[in-house]
Amino acid sequence: MSTDSILIIGSGGQLGTELCETLRGMYGDAKVVATDVRPLTGSIAESGPTEVLDILDKQRFTEILDQYKPTQIYHLAALLSATAERQPKLGWTLNMDGLFHVLDAAKERNISKIYWPSSIAVFGPNTPRDQTPQHCVMDPNTIYGITKLAGERYCEYYFEKHGVDVRSIRYPGLIGYKSAPGGGTTDYAVDIYHQALQQGKYECFLSEDTELPMLYMPDALRATINLMEAPAENIKIRSSYNVAGMSFTPDQIAASIRNEIPGFEISYAPDYRQQIANSWPKSIDDGTARMDWGWKPEYDLQAMTGDMLLHLREMNSIKS
Ligand code: SER
Repeated sequence: MSTDSILIIGSGGQLGTELCETLRGMYGDAKVVATDVRPLTGSIAESGPTEVLDILDKQRFTEILDQYKPTQIYHLAALLSATAERQPKLGWTLNMDGLFHVLDAAKERNISKIYWPSSIAVFGPNTPRDQTPQHCVMDPNTIYGITKLAGERYCEYYFEKHGVDVRSIRYPGLIGYKSAPGGGTTDYAVDIYHQALQQGKYECFLSEDTELPMLYMPDALRATINLMEAPAENIKIRSSYNVAGMSFTPDQIAASIRNEIPGFEISYAPDYRQQIANSWPKSIDDGTARMDWGWKPEYDLQAMTGDMLLHLREMNSIKS
């Protein structure tokens, strides 16, 4: 394999599955090495190289770096907010040590660019919740948020002190139809579409008026690629960029589904994830990303709902 390959760590996740497909489409199937802690199957395994990699296993990581000599790494492996609250020690270890392994590899080897996702979870109860600015009070009170904020500081530090070209986005909730999310507080906004088609109803684990920022997957992929393709001198933020698509409540997404499926019903049974959501922003000011590298979302809530239901119906009819 030539030296300009791309390594994805955590390729079996919600974002990794779709990013792998996009990057293989852009750079060629053989150039994008997909890795995950579990063996990858299906089209991702059929279309290009895959490896099993637990990013906490430094020796295995070194072997993979020696074999493929990637010049870019997308490091996506992490425990998300709800799962990390349940397994705080693993959340800290995976989210931090995994990042250290990747940043150190970039420092020591000829790796030109690193992508690492941060999250709206870096904000906390004392952050302004409406149009949350790029720079403001950040006092996360979840394990996931604490690891993402610490990770942001480390990314900026490695850029300043070691010249590592690391780029990052603070993703809001990501919504897509191609792969299932796992362990996030915003994941209700994916599951609701599946349940709407299968059951005609959905029980939501957040209250009806819980407003959160969200991003449809095609916009998230475009944002990620645009950030990674932007000239280094345009990237002024080396911690992580605020990026937003839309904000809505469970009540509002239900109304958008009802426009397509009139009988759809929603009920509410908030659980421990309500407290996590209550500490996060309602909406995000992404003016800095717009200014530095031309970010602009394309999907609003109704456009996303139409597209999600269209694709999920197609996928269901192929399966049945
Ligand atoms: N979607 C993530 C979560 O809910 C936030 O980054 O954990």
